Amino acid sequence: MEYPITRLRRLRRSEPMRSLVRETHLEPGALILPLFLCEGEGVRREVSSMPGVFNLSVDEAVKEAESAAALGVGGLLLFGLPAEKDEQATGAWAEDGIVQRGLRALKASGAAKKLLLIADVCLCEYTSHGHCGIVKKQGEEYEIENDSSLALLSKTAVSLARAGADIVAPSDMMDGRVAAIRDHLDDEGLEQTPILSYASKFASAFYGPFREAADSAPQFGDRRSYQMDGANLREAMREIDLDLAEGADMILMKPAMPYLDVIRAARERFDVPIGAYQVSGEYAMLQAAFAKGWLDRQRAMMESLLSIRRAGAGFIVTYFAKEAAKALG
Ligand code: PBG
Repeated sequence: MEYPITRLRRLRRSEPMRSLVRETHLEPGALILPLFLCEGEGVRREVSSMPGVFNLSVDEAVKEAESAAALGVGGLLLFGLPAEKDEQATGAWAEDGIVQRGLRALKASGAAKKLLLIADVCLCEYTSHGHCGIVKKQGEEYEIENDSSLALLSKTAVSLARAGADIVAPSDMMDGRVAAIRDHLDDEGLEQTPILSYASKFASAFYGPFREAADSAPQFGDRRSYQMDGANLREAMREIDLDLAEGADMILMKPAMPYLDVIRAARERFDVPIGAYQVSGEYAMLQAAFAKGWLDRQRAMMESLLSIRRAGAGFIVTYFAKEAAKALG
């Protein structure tokens, strides 16, 4: 049927009408807020490139969790800034590691009844060189060792699950880590802990501000030998295939906005829950435009989240989680 019989503008004439025919919806429970835990007490240190995002000591993180829970946010994704770093990433799997202590405190607070506690599993915040695995160096040459890193990642996942993580989320991009983590969790009686695998994680410039927030910038080289080349959608599908075969329960796509086509392709191909991570650089560039008055804050924030949802992500990890939940509430 063609114009003048069909007039698509009929269904756009009022907000109730637009609301009736809206195809995609956001809800606070599908938003996950990342938190960066640090040592100390009463610490609330803003990350300079991420206005509204803080390094939080455990006591402050509990307050933040309570306010997120009150707004209906679905969960937290926890990262840690350890007091000390070394070659073995000891702080990642230490019984009294910063995230382990944070998890116990959050579990003991009321907030954890409403919020899922997701622990990021990676070594880069805990290694002195800032890489996501064990580094073997020979002169100028270096190698991020795959198989020896798996043991440390597995140990980290077990330790975080024991400390109270509801979900563990490996983000290191070593081959075989999902199988190794599943194996170790099961051996330790943690067979009910799900794995949210960052299956499709691209080597991206948009992680820049995160590396300030988590103090995890590599001291030499870059992450291109383990994170994916941004040009490769088919390879992303292979990564997801493998992680699911190894036992991943859910997958996370990252970054989000520059890779919406990859999210869509994954949604059409895999019948598992899919989340997407609106990463630090996506947040920082929007914040920079807001600060200049160049974009309408609330509309641009919601439109960015809606685009990720429409592309096929069921849930979204976003630094806007609280603000968006407030806007939706
Ligand atoms: C750890 C990790 C990173 C991010 C999440 N987990 C950084 C990286 O890979 O360099 C980035 C998240 C963000 O930019 O918001 N490997």
